Amino acid sequence: MINFKDEIAEKLKEIVEIDKKELLSYIEVPKDNKNGDYSFPCFRLAKELKKAPQMIANEIKEKINLEGTGIDKIEVVGGFLNFFVSKNVITKEVLEEITKKEEYGRAKIGEGRNIVIDYSAPNIAKPFHIGHLRSTVIGGALSNIYKFLGYNVTGVNHLGDYGTQFGKLIEGYKLWGDEYDIDSDPINELTKIYIRINNLCKEDEKVLEACRNNFKLLEDGDENCTKLWERFKTVSLKEFQKVYDLLGSKFESWNGEAFYSDKMHEVVELLEKSGKLIDSQGAKIVDLSDDGIDTPCIIIKSNGSTTYATRDLAAILYRARTYDFEKALYVTSYEQILHFKQVFATAKYLGLDKKYTDGLLHVPFGMVLLPEGKMSTREGNIIKLEDLLNEAIERAKTIIEQKNPDLENKEETAKKVGVGAIIFNDLSNNRVKDEIFDWDTILNFQGETGPYIQYTYVRIKSVLEKAGKISDITNIDFEKLNDNYSQEVLKLIYNFQDILIAVTEKEEPSILSRYLIDLAKAYSVFYNENKIMVEDDDIKNARVYLSYATAKVLKEGTALLGMEMPDKM
Ligand code: ARG
Repeated sequence: MINFKDEIAEKLKEIVEIDKKELLSYIEVPKDNKNGDYSFPCFRLAKELKKAPQMIANEIKEKINLEGTGIDKIEVVGGFLNFFVSKNVITKEVLEEITKKEEYGRAKIGEGRNIVIDYSAPNIAKPFHIGHLRSTVIGGALSNIYKFLGYNVTGVNHLGDYGTQFGKLIEGYKLWGDEYDIDSDPINELTKIYIRINNLCKEDEKVLEACRNNFKLLEDGDENCTKLWERFKTVSLKEFQKVYDLLGSKFESWNGEAFYSDKMHEVVELLEKSGKLIDSQGAKIVDLSDDGIDTPCIIIKSNGSTTYATRDLAAILYRARTYDFEKALYVTSYEQILHFKQVFATAKYLGLDKKYTDGLLHVPFGMVLLPEGKMSTREGNIIKLEDLLNEAIERAKTIIEQKNPDLENKEETAKKVGVGAIIFNDLSNNRVKDEIFDWDTILNFQGETGPYIQYTYVRIKSVLEKAGKISDITNIDFEKLNDNYSQEVLKLIYNFQDILIAVTEKEEPSILSRYLIDLAKAYSVFYNENKIMVEDDDIKNARVYLSYATAKVLKEGTALLGMEMPDKM
């Protein structure tokens, strides 16, 4: 497919003495398409050449040779050069590419480039909460998109399966294990044990001592403690898997915190060697004031145990060596901003190649707010994720029941719509923004929602069904799609790959979800303004073809977000 922006830069390069990369960074896409499809501001050049920007624009316009670029008009407005792409050319380029490629927009720019994405990461024996859902959805979408662009992605589920709390849980289980039905409702039952033993620890120093000892035994590989820990892990994972099955989540690695239990001593040694590890009230810490961070990073607590941060540092060493990453992303709520600042700053003292420490990137996201406040794991306000997803499915079913009572496969469709609605909602706004969770908004078929996109897709499917066979591309008269409504849709489709690249530049899947809303809206306008099933076969065939192309992009785009498309709803 012709890359118009690239072509413009290429031709500008022949006239002005600026390298192509810089030129590309100047070229803009105007907000109002009256100002062209691409625009080149001459203000920066004006400074250099000491000439009025408009004069420069006029000179370039006289000299530039746009043959073969697909640009058929160029205008000077103020200090801007505005370029207009030929309608026929864009139509032809887009539709031919859609036809040629099984997966439109797939790219190879990521070939040979390694990305690690650390996401989901729930904690064993604790509820999989709404924050983990956001991490799972955002990390999953990023993983899909990077892979689609050719990157080699390792998605890591850095499970919270280590720490002193397991010493407590083991003690509680030893004392009262028989009283709880762990197999039928593992997380809730284990949480109850945890709360109970925690309370006892506060009263009885001896119990606390026993808990600490259990953790020590666990670290030393004691058979009984290890067996219990494994059991907690197995039952928890089984429960988490229900959520992953509903979401379709897959990970390349399940190395959780415990995986690093025998790898942390190296962190301590390296930090000692760097001279950065200092003793402070019995603990070992790294002072980060030189790095502009007020709070130190605690490596070994005063009771001798390692920390969440120590394990993250060991994981950085391991991931750099094992995956040789260009970027390592960490998808968690913004509550962990300080944690990652500390860890990334401390990582600079591990003696790793700078390219690794430069590649570390926290990808924070906002809270999910229930109308009555934050959803948290604190007592009394626990939302079970599996229940939330199942409720979404139930609600979707009710809506479908009303709108289309005769639909076949209602169950399956309700699952796609309900889960899709939750996923899309999590991705529809800038990720650091807090999100208000409201059922009616999320499931509104007319709103800016997942179901709206699915509904648009299903409508297109029925158009295609009515149309019968889709004409061969060689029989499509591109001229028939020169109206503005068709052109809006075509331009959006043209941009698909750039949108995916933009997602990876900002680690922001909402760029894609917003785009899909724009595309669905543009198609709806096209559909309302242009009759499709008209007498004139050429017009009909062209419009049907554009509908087919739109459906293809909507389906691919939503799949990258992690959603499934129903064929009917
Ligand atoms: N288990 C942690 C939590 O629930 C998230 C882990 C994120 N990843 C990491 N490498 N620290 O908050």
